[in-house]
Order: sequence, then C-alpha cells, then structure tokens
Amino acid sequence: MPTRTATARACSNIALIKYWGNRDEALRLPANPSISFNLRDLHTTTVVVFDPALAADELIIDGLVAASSARTRVGAFLDLIRATAPTGDGSVFARVTSDNNFPMGAGIASSASAFAALGVAATAALGLTNTEAQLSALARRGSGSASRSLPAGFVAWKDECAWSIAAPDHWDLVDVIGVVSTGEKKTGSTEGHALAGTSPLQVARVADAPRRFERCMSAIRTRDFDQLAAVIEQDALMMHGVMMTSDPPLMYWLPASLAIMHEVQSMRARGVPVAFTIDAGPNIHCICDAPVADIVATTIAELAGVARVLRSPVGGGAMLLTTWSAGILPAL
Ligand code: DP6
Repeated sequence: MPTRTATARACSNIALIKYWGNRDEALRLPANPSISFNLRDLHTTTVVVFDPALAADELIIDGLVAASSARTRVGAFLDLIRATAPTGDGSVFARVTSDNNFPMGAGIASSASAFAALGVAATAALGLTNTEAQLSALARRGSGSASRSLPAGFVAWKDECAWSIAAPDHWDLVDVIGVVSTGEKKTGSTEGHALAGTSPLQVARVADAPRRFERCMSAIRTRDFDQLAAVIEQDALMMHGVMMTSDPPLMYWLPASLAIMHEVQSMRARGVPVAFTIDAGPNIHCICDAPVADIVATTIAELAGVARVLRSPVGGGAMLLTTWSAGILPAL
C-alpha cells in the first residue's frame, strides 16, 4: 500500500440535552437521547497519514506527543476503521496530527471534535466511502458526543448515529463560555458515564429524558427562548444532580461556576435571553441570542474567578479538507 493521507475538520459541540451514562458501555450507546449544536469557532483539524513504514500508531496533539492513554484510545478507534479496509490496508499504522484552534487547558472538551475529524480523515485516507450517518456512528465509538459533531447545525442523537434537526442559520444562538478553571479535570467523561448508574437519581433522570428531549426539540423548532432556557437549565442541573450523588460523587462546580449561574438567571429576569448549561467540568456555557452575546460576555468576564471568556455561534458539520495518495496527484 502506498502512503495515504487525508485531512478533516470538525467543530466541538455543546449539549443542550445532556448525554450521561451508557446503556452499552462498549458500543457507547447512550442511556438517554441528547441534543446539541456545533460550535463554529471551536474546531479540530486532523491529518492522518497511513504509512507502511510505521511500526506503531503515532499521535501528536497541538504539537506535543500525546500521552499513552490517548494513543491507546486512538489506536483502538483506528483498529475499527482498519477492520473494514480492503485486505492489505488493515495492518498499516498511522501518524495522526491533531490541532485544536481553541486554547489547550481551557477545559473545553476536545474529544467530540477530535474523534469526528479523525473518523472522517482516516476513512477518507483509506478510500472508504461512508454516509454521514455511518461516519456519525463511527465517531460515536471514539467518543459518544463526537457522533453529534458530524451533522451540521442543531443535532439530535438517540441510538447508533446523530442527525441534523436544523441548519446552523435556523436560530442565531451563541455559546459564551465562562472559563473558570484551566486545570485538568479530575474525572473524565468516560469514567463519569460508568458511574452514572451508581446514583439513585439516574433512573429518574433517564426516565424523564424523552420529555426534556421533546421540549427542547419544540423550543428549537419554534425558536422559543424561554422554553429553551427552562429545559436546558433543568437538564444540566439534573445531570449534575446525578454526578454529585454518584459513588464516588463527582463535584465539578467551583464558586465561580455558581456565581455565573446566578448572574445568568438574574440577567434573564431582567429580560436578557440567556441560559446556562454545564458539561463535566466547572466552566459555564451561557447560551444566548446573538444580539445579547456582547453584553453577556462582558458581564460574566467581570465576575471574580472567571479566567477568560470564549464564544462561538452555531457551526456546520464535519468536513474533509484534502485527500492524497503517494504517486497520485491531489485533485485541485
Ligand atoms: C457532559 O462524549 O465526552 O459533555 O463517550 O466517554 O468520550 P465519552 O464521553 P463524552 O461525554 C459527554 C458528556 C457531556 C454531555 C454531552 O456532551 O452530552
């Protein structure tokens, strides 16, 4: 096999209805349906080179050789792709170079954009043709939330793959992220999902998830901000209720996280269309209508303990940038 390479880019996404817990850990089939939108300005660009001269998979993230745990996870993901490749291509190792355009250590999850971009690049490099649904299902095996970074705009996910429920320009929302900690999180999502079932609240959270999912779908369909605010804050707090009551408990909030949540609710009480959601970390995502994004960003930047503020509008789906095989000129 000649050296084969491809480059792909995918956005990160923010969940409005959260995925927490798996009904099948190995296959990363989620315990409950979720909804997200892609973050246009927070993305990962990944180059994959399948090279017969390599003795093992190599992984470089943001210019640094990745930790062995990340290499193992990426290697296992590449094995899934190699297993579907034509005979002969299935044993070739790859050099993966992945670059995030958002600051390292800002506590912004990169596994969604990373596995979405990696899946698109690696399959293209091997000449495998896949539908968006197949690529979403593949990305899911690397990181559950990565399934939602394949389709464009507002995205839903229930089973094998995610699908787009509205285009990026359907609703001009912005995610204004209050970064309150730049440290490594204590317990990552994968470990956290496995603990979800130890909380007695998880059963109730999962049982009520279809109601929250439908409410969020209808809020997006009708662009009803009040309805969206109510359901996403309740959903995030229910997930953190499960986290805090797991065994061992996961307590992600810092004092500044709570300060932002209070500020968001008081801005909303004053008529500003903004609501919060929180992932598996202390940073707070303030979802707001685009015209108020500046005022939301300025207000939370002034709170004690807020290290920086990032922001992004709704983004498109994952895309292939280039593909090339040694000896074959790339298409212009
Ligand atoms: C809290 O997709 O990061 O952000 O499948 O183990 O990689 P793995 O987990 P991950 O979990 C995301 C959890 C969340 C909520 C969400 O994005 O829906």
